Amino acid sequence: MGNRLVSGKPVTDDKKKATPLAQSGFARSSFDKVAYNKQEYAPSTFTQPEFVASDYVSSATMKETLIGKINIKDATVAVIGLGYVGLPLAVEMAQSGFSVIGVDIDTQVVEGVNLGNSHVGDVPTERLAPLVASGRIRASGEYAAVKDADCISICVPTPLRKTKEPDITCITDAVDRVIPSMGPGKLVVLESTTYPGTTEELIAERLQTECGLKVGETVFVAFSPERVDPGNTKWQTKNTPKVLGGVTPACTEVAKALYSAVVDRVHAVGSAREAETVKLLENTFRAVNIGLVNEFMLMCDRLDIDIWNVIEAASTKPFGYMPFFPGPGIGGHCIPLDPMYMSWKAKAVDFYNRFIELATDINGNMPRFVLAKLADLLNDREKSLKGSRVMILGMAYKANVGDLRESPGLEIYRLLRQKGAWVEFNDPHADSFVSILGNVVQSSPIDGDALSSFDAALLVTDHDAFDYKTIADKSPLILDCRNAFARRGISKENVYKL
Ligand SMILES: NC(=O)c1ccc[n+]([C@@H]2O[C@H](COP(=O)([O-])OP(=O)(O)OC[C@H]3O[C@@H](n4cnc5c(N)ncnc54)[C@H](O)[C@@H]3O)[C@@H](O)[C@H]2O)c1
Repeated sequence: MGNRLVSGKPVTDDKKKATPLAQSGFARSSFDKVAYNKQEYAPSTFTQPEFVASDYVSSATMKETLIGKINIKDATVAVIGLGYVGLPLAVEMAQSGFSVIGVDIDTQVVEGVNLGNSHVGDVPTERLAPLVASGRIRASGEYAAVKDADCISICVPTPLRKTKEPDITCITDAVDRVIPSMGPGKLVVLESTTYPGTTEELIAERLQTECGLKVGETVFVAFSPERVDPGNTKWQTKNTPKVLGGVTPACTEVAKALYSAVVDRVHAVGSAREAETVKLLENTFRAVNIGLVNEFMLMCDRLDIDIWNVIEAASTKPFGYMPFFPGPGIGGHCIPLDPMYMSWKAKAVDFYNRFIELATDINGNMPRFVLAKLADLLNDREKSLKGSRVMILGMAYKANVGDLRESPGLEIYRLLRQKGAWVEFNDPHADSFVSILGNVVQSSPIDGDALSSFDAALLVTDHDAFDYKTIADKSPLILDCRNAFARRGISKENVYKL
């Protein structure tokens, strides 16, 4: 490698070798320990450059200067990706007094935000509009805007490929585009859920090799998982504790300064890899417990036991039990996807986990169970799925939101169509969706007597906006995948539970 710019001046390869890290007097991160001790198990391509004693003053100043700027809210923050995670974060940052530049590749998102219109349910337009009007937040489709930012937070999607392997192209694309605007004295935080090692390998490593910056000295890099729960009115970005971990302790310090100024509580961990893994544990915990209760429901179904009553009774135990509920499958951008990031990474070190794969299998097959159950109910009425008219109630993946990503309703719709049923849907939060064949399917009205013309209604998502009593009165047959009718005290002969 040729000369690199460190603290604004060129460093030759000779100088790089001058002072070994261990002698530099810097108690370096667990990051170095991990990279060294576990090298043979989980190799990270990222290696910390050796510390050069003469850089001490300038780099220490760089950290302090950035923290100082953050503390007096003089820092500008760029939020890359203005979706369910990025927009609430941008709003909290701006509300706390920072100037915020939002960058998104979707021109509609950029235009909407610049008009003060929110496209994210958890961010009311009344909250966004004044921040845009006062110039605290502006959005741009151009990454050049990042040049003016002191802190950069990356909140882009991390889906799975069809093969269930991580698709990190949005992160690499964002990093490709951020790099030309990088210079010394900035903080980069990755918020997108991903496998352990991403922050080091895809960000820290590249800032060093491509920008000649020194992580922990002239640039600061951290991971902080977002914990957004769309539609949750109690726990939002500000009052949900924020976990973070830097690639070095100095990185943690700078990231902590930023987030402490924005959210109520910050919990710092020993490294970016730990922070990445925290998020994966949280979501794996949910996926596995939902898988467990779904399998329990399948057993109860065979034994003719009401799982919902069982869960209600078990929930009276004040310790050692936490209720999870069966359903038509899992959806959203987190629970079905994130555990696979851990599973994939573990395979790279010859560890084949069972819990994640098992939960993915059970949860992923729930739509087929729903279909089988509905087929049985129709069969009892001397009808088949083929030719029956079925109304799906709720297409979003969970109650009271319009988020359709990975929703089990989409798979149920596909399976029903495949079996030859006539299928329509109604969702008060989602007007339409694009079917697997690329057709736009519009939400059908369910007012008046509309429901009585269907052979069955399938309650997939228990939105509060549904009029459950009228639905129960008008539909000849209902399969309730969420126990929504009983929870509202509606018990009728035509309503069946999963
Ligand atoms: N949605 C959730 O409930 C949730 C909760 C916690 C964590 N997360 C994680 O946060 C990350 C973001 O998720 P989200 O739900 O906000 O996604 P989203 O799809 O709602 O928003 C992502 C935004 O990023 C933009 N984008 C994509 N590639 C880009 C690029 N290269 N440069 C700039 N903008 C780009 C998209 O146009 C979109 O507006 C994911 O890793 C997800 O796993 C999501």
